[in-house]
Amino acid sequence: MAARSRVEVLSTHTPDLFGKAVARAAELLRAGEVVAVPTETVYGLAANALDPAAVARIYEAKGRPAHNPLIVHVADLTMARRCVKQFSDTATRLAKAFWPGPLSLVLNRSDIIPDLVTAGGGTVGIRWPSHPFIQQLIRACDFPLAAPSANRSNEVSPTNADHVRKSLGDRIPLIIDGGQSQVGIESTVLDLTVNPPRILRPGMIHQESLESVIGETGSGGDAAGTLLKSPGQLQKHYSPKARLRILSWKDDADLRSQLTKEGCTVANTHVIAHTNIPASFEHVSVIPHDSEAFARALYAELHRCDETGAELIVVEAVPHGPEWQAIADRLQRASS
Ligand code: TXA
Ligand code: MG
Repeated sequence: MAARSRVEVLSTHTPDLFGKAVARAAELLRAGEVVAVPTETVYGLAANALDPAAVARIYEAKGRPAHNPLIVHVADLTMARRCVKQFSDTATRLAKAFWPGPLSLVLNRSDIIPDLVTAGGGTVGIRWPSHPFIQQLIRACDFPLAAPSANRSNEVSPTNADHVRKSLGDRIPLIIDGGQSQVGIESTVLDLTVNPPRILRPGMIHQESLESVIGETGSGGDAAGTLLKSPGQLQKHYSPKARLRILSWKDDADLRSQLTKEGCTVANTHVIAHTNIPASFEHVSVIPHDSEAFARALYAELHRCDETGAELIVVEAVPHGPEWQAIADRLQRASS
């Protein structure tokens, strides 16, 4: 793909700027272009979900394999219903409980959804995001927006406009700066076309929350099936450039000896810790011992480690428990 001239970046922090950014983004999207936009999970690279040529530009800009389907973003239930064959009772209950928010529902698609969005499959992932910018943008466009995370394929997802600029700045015409993503990791993807519904990708709306609304769900289990159903679950995904290890340690000396085993020195290691903060290390980031705060900060820390040229990123192992499950999942992928 030919490099473009300098990307336009628009702020949204005053009502006037917000309105102008919506208008400019809608103009480009109507013309079949792609635009990077903020959502509460991570930044998305949006295009008109009903226009195959526009959707093709997403795959091209990201270098995304065509077999990995896209999530379609809507701004109300009417639009969600138009995208699927049947918006089931289960879907309705989940939407009531969690939309707008970080939950994507996989349902049988309707005829308006092009093959390119679903990677040729019969199902489509639908999400009503809570970030005010993308909501306003979808209403202005009056069509749903297909949007994967706004990064080159296999990189760590962007949680601010600068992350997007560094990854896709020479490949897309416009980035909307809507501040730091408040959730910080990608949405929970729940397949409602199987019984019981199955979590294809864990997110901050965790299994226990989902089950409190709809009863039993499944997750993981049959790995081969999961891989086929959700290519985003491929192990090598969401990876920083540096090697990443998940470790636990008693004290600095213990951590040092584990690093020696990894063949790394303190100087080229960046530690991300929440509880046992190493006092004698040069490069340490502390994220509070709180799953929401951790999710919000994690990707920005991984991006920063890559920028500073860390060779090894050590992340302090996170607790067990449903609210940490999605974070553990992303760390696991980043370390494989
Ligand atoms: O939070 C999010 O979901 C962000 C923001 C931008 O909304 N989007 C995002 O999109 O993470 P992406 O494309 O990076 O990841 C979408 C995941 C992939 O793992 C994909 O395989 C899965 O959802 N997916 C999408 N449609 C699917 C479908 N019809 N069936 C199974 N999995 C699907
Ligand atoms: Mg992604």
